[in-house]
Amino acid sequence: MNDKLIVVVGAGGRLGRLIVQSLLAQPSVRVRALVRDPKKPEAAGLAADRVELRAFDAASASDAERAEAVKGAFAVVSTLQGGPDIIIDAQLSLARAAKAAKVRRFISSAFSYDLFALPEGVNINTDWRRTFAQRAKSEVADGIEVVHVMQGIFTDKFVLGFLGLLDASKGVLRYWGDGKTPIDWTSWEDTARFTAAAALDDRVVPERLYVAGDRLDVHGFAKAYESVRGTKLALESLGSLDDLRAEVTRKLSAEPSNMYAWLPLMYARGVFEGQALLGPTLNARYPEIAAETVAQSIARGAV
Ligand SMILES: NC(=O)c1ccc[n+]([C@@H]2O[C@H](COP(=O)([O-])OP(=O)(O)OC[C@H]3O[C@@H](n4cnc5c(N)ncnc54)[C@H](OP(=O)(O)O)[C@@H]3O)[C@@H](O)[C@H]2O)c1
Repeated sequence: MNDKLIVVVGAGGRLGRLIVQSLLAQPSVRVRALVRDPKKPEAAGLAADRVELRAFDAASASDAERAEAVKGAFAVVSTLQGGPDIIIDAQLSLARAAKAAKVRRFISSAFSYDLFALPEGVNINTDWRRTFAQRAKSEVADGIEVVHVMQGIFTDKFVLGFLGLLDASKGVLRYWGDGKTPIDWTSWEDTARFTAAAALDDRVVPERLYVAGDRLDVHGFAKAYESVRGTKLALESLGSLDDLRAEVTRKLSAEPSNMYAWLPLMYARGVFEGQALLGPTLNARYPEIAAETVAQSIARGAV
């Protein structure tokens, strides 16, 4: 029973499921997978020998339920999605419970470009994650490692579609600005592998764990696509960075309660303004992970 127990919160989500798989790929690891509804197919699919599937709602959990949820863990990994009640309040409560239970580290649901480098007010989702990070550092982190995995943008057709950038059926790749802004790219699977490795690490893990598969601007991305697929992606400008900022303001005032109208544009600012590029990557800490380049992700069919 010397296995390391890793608690994954949000384990039924897309990244959560991949992290559970990456953890189980290692011997001597057990996973406590916390999901809101264990009967949901995504959650039920997690059932395996070394997995304890447990119902847990991060928004309504009592202190006692949180303490029970993290008990005995070596690390807690959060892939929670939600508003400030989840990303700030629920994650802070979980991190506090983890510290009280003498858990070695808490890995937050960051998984983005460098959230510390993006100015406040550019992307509301990033603001919540930065607020969590700042508060965790000042209110919790003494006695527990609080770690934020940052990997840039997932190299993935759905993420590119969400951002309004890729229309694969028309062979079009869109961009804001001059198209020369470098972008950090990592696959979902590699992000999960790095996160699992960081969760299990016996060494101190830095607060800001930058990892990446590639760094390419949209021209480099289109070249990689052509080299793999043999077909060209037409590059199409959506406007200048000033146009992008104006579009965010316009959409926010027209449809304030429809986040799908403006959130992708806020992420586009994070990507194309170039302020949130990752710091020096720490891939070398985990030499067993050969992170995919953009071309390799395209060849695998991720784009
Ligand atoms: N950089 C990028 O390109 C990029 C792209 C996408 C996502 N991300 C990041 O990756 C992370 C994971 O995203 P994802 O796409 O895997 O998210 P997801 O599939 O939506 O999963 C999020 C999980 O959180 C769970 N959850 C939400 N509220 C909860 C609560 N109150 N109690 C317990 N569980 C709760 C959901 O449970 P239910 O299943 O019950 O709803 C869901 O399983 C996030 O930090 C996200 O911002 C980054």
